[in-house]
Amino acid sequence: MAITYTFIHTIHIFSVFIYGGFLFVDVLFLSKMNQNLSEDEHKKAREAIMVHVRKVVPYALMVAVASGLYLISQIFGKIEGGSLSHFQTLLAIKAFLGSWLGLRGINQKLFKINPWVFKSHFFPFSLVVIIILLSQFMYV
Ligand code: HEM
Repeated sequence: MAITYTFIHTIHIFSVFIYGGFLFVDVLFLSKMNQNLSEDEHKKAREAIMVHVRKVVPYALMVAVASGLYLISQIFGKIEGGSLSHFQTLLAIKAFLGSWLGLRGINQKLFKINPWVFKSHFFPFSLVVIIILLSQFMYV
């Protein structure tokens, strides 16, 4: 059991790393490419990157959500005394935000439904930052 958990946990971290890594690079660096390139060059350069991103990043998100659901099923634990513990509360919020990103990504990739409220990558980027913080502080 422990080895399966560790294995899925490792997959979770790698997939989160790939998905979150792209968002960090996009928000911090790629979004600034237009400062040094003409509009046409920027469009071409961005597309040259996005061609590869689209083949990997949405699937990394799906793997993150699937592996996350396995992890939570193993460690959420029983609800005792009618209220959630600190750990359970933060983990539940984290899972909610993670599922939101997952649904958003699946809709976009598999059903071609584009996000209608938060269109830029800054929104998922912010959620990833919050999710990472929750994933650490739930243990405090
Ligand atoms: C439905 C969606 C998700 C669920 C249910 C979920 C669940 C979990 C659980 C239960 C853990 C704790 C593992 C442990 O410490 O043993 C964890 C860790 C973590 N998750 Fe998720 N997760 C989800 C999606 C995501 C997403 C989308 C991200 C970020 C892009 C993310 C980032 C992390 C990080 C950074 C950790 C900490 C890893 C560590 O410190 O070892 N998760 N997740």
